[in-house]
Amino acid sequence: MNAYIKSIGTYIPERRVTNDELAKTMDTSDEWIRSHTGIGSRHIADKSMNTADIAIKAAEVALERGGVKAEELDMIILTTATPDYVGFPATACIVQDKLGASNAGAFDLTAGCTGFVYGLEVAKNFLKSGHMKNILLVSAEMLTQIANWEDRNTAVLFGDGAGAVVVSTSDDDISGIDDTILKADGSGSYALERKVGGVAHPYEEGKTTWADTALYMDGQAVYKFAVKVNTQLISSLMERNNLTIDDIKWIVPHQANERILQAAAKRLKLSMDKFFLNLEEYANTSSASIPLALNDLYEKGELKRGDKLLLTGFGAGLTYGGAIIRW
Ligand code: UT7
Repeated sequence: MNAYIKSIGTYIPERRVTNDELAKTMDTSDEWIRSHTGIGSRHIADKSMNTADIAIKAAEVALERGGVKAEELDMIILTTATPDYVGFPATACIVQDKLGASNAGAFDLTAGCTGFVYGLEVAKNFLKSGHMKNILLVSAEMLTQIANWEDRNTAVLFGDGAGAVVVSTSDDDISGIDDTILKADGSGSYALERKVGGVAHPYEEGKTTWADTALYMDGQAVYKFAVKVNTQLISSLMERNNLTIDDIKWIVPHQANERILQAAAKRLKLSMDKFFLNLEEYANTSSASIPLALNDLYEKGELKRGDKLLLTGFGAGLTYGGAIIRW
């Protein structure tokens, strides 16, 4: 039995905010954002929508493209840093109900921006257990809701979006999820966090400010970590699978900062042409960024069944992970 990505779908909010538009309300510029990150714009979801709503929109496209009915799903795995509710209920359960996935279990998976890669491996192993046939893995993020819009160091980096895949069993061996590396380094947990609102630092009446509950990032610490782990993931995955770069059609990385990938490519002596980037349009959409990139490749006609892709991710936790898949 083989597990593979049967179909993919995304949802991108209509409202597109360019760097120039941001610069009207904060002390920043298109020149700074582009030169430090490669980001040109981000999409921001309507305030009337929740994370579950954008997840459902992406899921509906993936289900339709795969010819899979919601009732045929055995499990829904939802990755997000912006759940609809703190702790519970899982956003995945809201998606399960609204999709009408009456035979599915549902849970949220928290692995920061690496969520999609973690989710793929979890889905694959559920399928390998032999009890399941179709799993919806949906990564949905509304980071603009938790960004601190008074902090130009972080607010300009993030955007909203959702990407979903149906991961299914297959009898042939053309497509598959071949190898995955999943790692964490919790000593860096301070570098990406929402400081207040959890059990460690609860909300305190009259003391807690909005900024305390917003996304905090030590950008330089995450930058150094990201260059190191991207380099490690790419070289380890190629080495242990006996692959050369010519065997890989695309490296599809988490889209956080173009400079991180340029630095990793330089260390590995790889051309940037192998890396698929779309962060100029969407900015950093956390765990949704890899499926958004896969979907763009798919819609451009760049993916044929059997094409080998190397995925890499890193993020809050700190977590990191990569995968070799055959499309
Ligand atoms: O998926 C989650 C993972 N997160 C990431 O991948 C982020 C990793 N980190 C980064 O991408 C980079 O560290 C940043 C993009 C966050 C920052 O880039 P940097 O080149 O490390 O900039 P910096 O923090 O060293 O700041 C340089 C200067 C500072 O000014 P001074 O103190 O030198 O006068 C900042 O205040 O740039 C200033 N600055 C800005 N200026 C205009 C910071 N943000 C902005 C801004 N517009 N938006």
